[in-house]
Amino acid sequence: MVAAEALAGLALAMGLYALLYYNFIKGASCKNETSLRGKTVLITGANTGIGKTTALDLARRGARVILACRDRGRGESAAYDIRRESGNNEVLFMSLDLASFKSVRAFATAFLRSEPRLDILINNAGVGFGSRSEDGFNLAFQVNHLSHFLLTHLLLERMKQCAPSRVVVVASSGHERGKIDFQNIHKPVDGQMAGLHSYCNSKLANMLYTRELANRLEGTNITCYAVHPGLVKSDIFRHIPVWLKPLFLPILWLFSRDTINGAQTSIYCATQEGIEKYSGRYFANCSLQDPKPHAQDDAVAKKLWEVSERMVGLAN
Ligand SMILES: NC(=O)c1ccc[n+]([C@@H]2O[C@H](COP(=O)([O-])OP(=O)(O)OC[C@H]3O[C@@H](n4cnc5c(N)ncnc54)[C@H](OP(=O)(O)O)[C@@H]3O)[C@@H](O)[C@H]2O)c1
Repeated sequence: MVAAEALAGLALAMGLYALLYYNFIKGASCKNETSLRGKTVLITGANTGIGKTTALDLARRGARVILACRDRGRGESAAYDIRRESGNNEVLFMSLDLASFKSVRAFATAFLRSEPRLDILINNAGVGFGSRSEDGFNLAFQVNHLSHFLLTHLLLERMKQCAPSRVVVVASSGHERGKIDFQNIHKPVDGQMAGLHSYCNSKLANMLYTRELANRLEGTNITCYAVHPGLVKSDIFRHIPVWLKPLFLPILWLFSRDTINGAQTSIYCATQEGIEKYSGRYFANCSLQDPKPHAQDDAVAKKLWEVSERMVGLAN
């Protein structure tokens, strides 16, 4: 009797979880079958997580896919996996460390020398925690925002030649808790809470950058989109403190999506026809979203652009 009641309780809990999962956690799928034959895609941080899964999908659509990763072993191994799983031999690793402007510049030079096309740039790489970059900046601000700002700038001319082309910026709903404090946003921080704030600030920078980029790209036939992938089981949580893991990991396991579902909005913004009129806007679950007002502040977006230009050495 007790066993039967326990079984019924378990079945009910599983049913409720399935309802919750399919309605709220899993997210929408990108349904289009756009072919990318003849197109070149560059995706940063594609050796694991959302980036690797996005790269696999785009390789299956026939694109030439460049995986820009900081570690040769992990990058080559991901390229090998994607070539094998997609049957597409045009998947290559190239070395890029976003914690170093020198590496970004060297990467851009090598890319422009070897690749005649760039149709889709996906600024995906991100760090959740960390202190100081090689250039002395806040690590999350440099890797997630400044280096992608510089990379995009250096590759934009090639994208103009290949237009219509797209830039997809993997941001986060974490931008909602972000703040742009021009006095401090670039400074390295210590401690987990300060690190988390830096991450949210960098994701707000992603949102404002995408807005301003769209303004500056008007009339070029290059469009850009900011994406929230959802809460995704990935390596980004590898640095959470040991004491928090017993609480956080079960919650993550229950309430997050896998990388296949987490990659869907990036794939949608890279491939969906007809979204060009939404350049500069924010997408989640493969649909247009309205971000919080502070992520739509054009004056802050413009100032962030000018400050970023100075920090990466593009202006005096
Ligand atoms: N997971 C989520 O719940 C979630 C939610 C919202 C937004 N996002 C965003 O989604 C994007 C992808 O994250 P993910 O969840 O897939 O995390 P992930 O599995 O940790 O992947 C992050 C990627 O970025 C790379 N990366 C980190 N630092 C780098 C550097 N200095 N230079 C070059 N590449 C670097 C990593 O390379 P290594 O493997 O060498 O470290 C890795 O390939 C990030 O922008 C993240 O902010 C994720």
